[in-house]
Amino acid sequence: MRKMFDEGVLERYRNLTRDVEERMINLHPIQSGGRAGDYPGVVQAVLRFVDGYSVCDFCLKGRLDLIESPPLCDFHRDIAAFLGMDEARLFPGCRQAQYAAFHALVKPDDTIIVDSLAHYSTYLSAERVGARIVEVSHSGYPEYDLFIDAYAERIEEVKKETGKWPALAFLTHVDYNYGNVFDAKSVGEVIHDYGVPFVLNGAYTIGRMPVSGKELGADVMTASLHKSFASPAPSGLLLANEGYSDVIFRRSSIRGPWSGRNFENKEIETLGCTLPGCVAIGVMAAFPYVVERVKHWDEEVKKARYFIEQLERIDGIKQLGQRPHRHDLVHFESKSFFEVAQKHPRKGFFLYDELKARGVIGVQPGLSKSFKVSTYGKTWEQIKIAAEAFIEVAQKYNIPTH
Ligand SMILES: Cc1ncc(COP(=O)(O)O)c(C=O)c1O
Repeated sequence: MRKMFDEGVLERYRNLTRDVEERMINLHPIQSGGRAGDYPGVVQAVLRFVDGYSVCDFCLKGRLDLIESPPLCDFHRDIAAFLGMDEARLFPGCRQAQYAAFHALVKPDDTIIVDSLAHYSTYLSAERVGARIVEVSHSGYPEYDLFIDAYAERIEEVKKETGKWPALAFLTHVDYNYGNVFDAKSVGEVIHDYGVPFVLNGAYTIGRMPVSGKELGADVMTASLHKSFASPAPSGLLLANEGYSDVIFRRSSIRGPWSGRNFENKEIETLGCTLPGCVAIGVMAAFPYVVERVKHWDEEVKKARYFIEQLERIDGIKQLGQRPHRHDLVHFESKSFFEVAQKHPRKGFFLYDELKARGVIGVQPGLSKSFKVSTYGKTWEQIKIAAEAFIEVAQKYNIPTH
């Protein structure tokens, strides 16, 4: 039976608060690069534009990317230039951007090539457009490295089997499981030899490290701004180069047969508009900070490598993925913590509890056999404290450290 609405429930929605970012060292891989709170300019701008459709005061042409005040029109041009692409549009996330690109470029029953380390949203986007997928495989434990040379073979197989070239080939620039960085440029070159569109997912690269779509040979790129661009959620980006932007950002041509209504200025894949308020403002306000921070990517990699070195001092802890590691997202196998968990009353949750007690969060509660963390944006001091916390936990449970 349907429950009657009782205003008493509203108490739980008052005074919503979150202060872990100030109180703790947060190593959560999906949160480290999207942290906007470190940048006062972003917080201030978001607050000033917090009202619903706050960017629409001067929406004179009916499109987000054409609004001149606040400078969304300039921003769309500037971010495309910064990322070495011709056109950019804001989306509510990387998944929506991927779906929009697939929807524009793929017809039902077309085949697309995807890397087998892609995020689930890539698979679901393919499913939603009715595409058949062919995967580029990867190596096994412990590196899980993508066989990037296999793109050519897969493309040729598709042509042989179906008589048609794949509708697109997709690469996840950095995979979300192991933080492996793939050589997008080489993949782009191979794919271009076949004239197949190359879609590059920069969810874990754009906003963290320098990325130029043109240099990498990408025809289309997607980004997750709330993951990697110091931006509020939900925010993502779809970028396309000439030759594809006309199709992806095509305008509406529908006309109401009775009313005669039409919407010629609206773009179909954005459903006319995407981020009409403080989220778009947050992304714009983050832009200057991001342009500066990507210059320090090498330092972020150094921090991640230092962290790996420290954690591997613990018996049974081993970094998975490419070595040397080239990204801040790190996956550790942790056999020794898993053994502790077997006998601990809190089971796998012991690791989360122990780290939390030492001011460190971000390891998924319940995980002890393996876990992922990200060192992105942390100071050297925070990295050292966090590494020390893991070592202390190991020592508390008599796991040898070196
Ligand atoms: C590689 C990759 N692509 C896409 C996504 C989806 O991103 P979003 O939350 O912006 O839709 C994720 C999320 O973790 C991801 O890791």
